[in-house]
Amino acid sequence: MSEQVGADGTPLGRWETVLAAVDADGIGWVTLNRPEKRNAMNPLLNAEMLSVLDAVEEAPSARVLVLTGAGESFSAGMDLKEYFRDVDAAGPAARARSRRDANEWQYRRLMLFPKPTIAMVNGWCFGGAFTPLVACDLALAATEAVFGLSEVNWGIPPGSVVSRALAETVPYRDALYYIMTGRSFTGEEAARMRLVNEAVPATELRERTRELAVHLASLSPAVLHSAKVGFKRARTMEWEVAEEYLYAKLDQSVATDPEGSRERGLSEFLDHKSFRPGLGAYRRD
Ligand code: COA
Repeated sequence: MSEQVGADGTPLGRWETVLAAVDADGIGWVTLNRPEKRNAMNPLLNAEMLSVLDAVEEAPSARVLVLTGAGESFSAGMDLKEYFRDVDAAGPAARARSRRDANEWQYRRLMLFPKPTIAMVNGWCFGGAFTPLVACDLALAATEAVFGLSEVNWGIPPGSVVSRALAETVPYRDALYYIMTGRSFTGEEAARMRLVNEAVPATELRERTRELAVHLASLSPAVLHSAKVGFKRARTMEWEVAEEYLYAKLDQSVATDPEGSRERGLSEFLDHKSFRPGLGAYRRD
């Protein structure tokens, strides 16, 4: 877990608990930055993440968002002191507010974020951290990273939508095993059960993530957005409804795509014979 997670590139703003910068490849690196607290998510971080997501969304140079953590952790989950104990003491209005901010960025905003998103799990990943992990479109982990649904270890069932996020990604038996035992598992195991797409040694994680992000950045943003939203929305629909929705989504994509990707792709293949769609995308310039 020696991955260095510098937020290189041009900073997108200043936040106390998060670093966000866009590099020369168009990757918006968003780094949860409370390493001394293992990047536990406190109310300030949850509030700041809302404006960080705005900044990445609005930056034309940012084509892909990578979410990661500073130091040896992705995130140790919700901050047990500031998100639980302190908020309990502050009363119901403060609790409602801090839950709303957390849910707003961790899955509502992130799940359908207009740009492709990758979670890069560089180290510790516990409890509430599973929500933004699953909300990201793709996820890569260090084989050495340690994950856990540690809630039962300290006395609550998994809160917020953590269990829902598990059900979205992990097979039934694996999900219940880890939810009910509180035992931890490695990045390698996370890849086996498809919580993440792939696990690679920590020393290779950043480069592998960059490679994937650069590939996503090479494709049409409008088409990628329609593709991911279509998939995420349609998976809970009846087939007939999904057919209507996905055709409407496709027509919307074609009608609003500023690059005219569909016509360009057809022409490059059929007229210019410059590429084979089955083997890769046409070259955008
Ligand atoms: N909430 C609040 N503070 C946390 C935290 C969390 N979720 N996770 C870690 N911290 C704090 C510790 O209290 C400690 O603070 P201190 O230096 O002021 O005493 C600091 O971060 C370092 O933690 P420590 O336990 O010493 O680090 P470690 O590297 O030995 O262990 C973990 C790392 C992640 C295994 C361990 O901190 C841990 O189990 N954290 C809780 C994980 C969890 O259950 N999260 C909640 C899920 S709902």
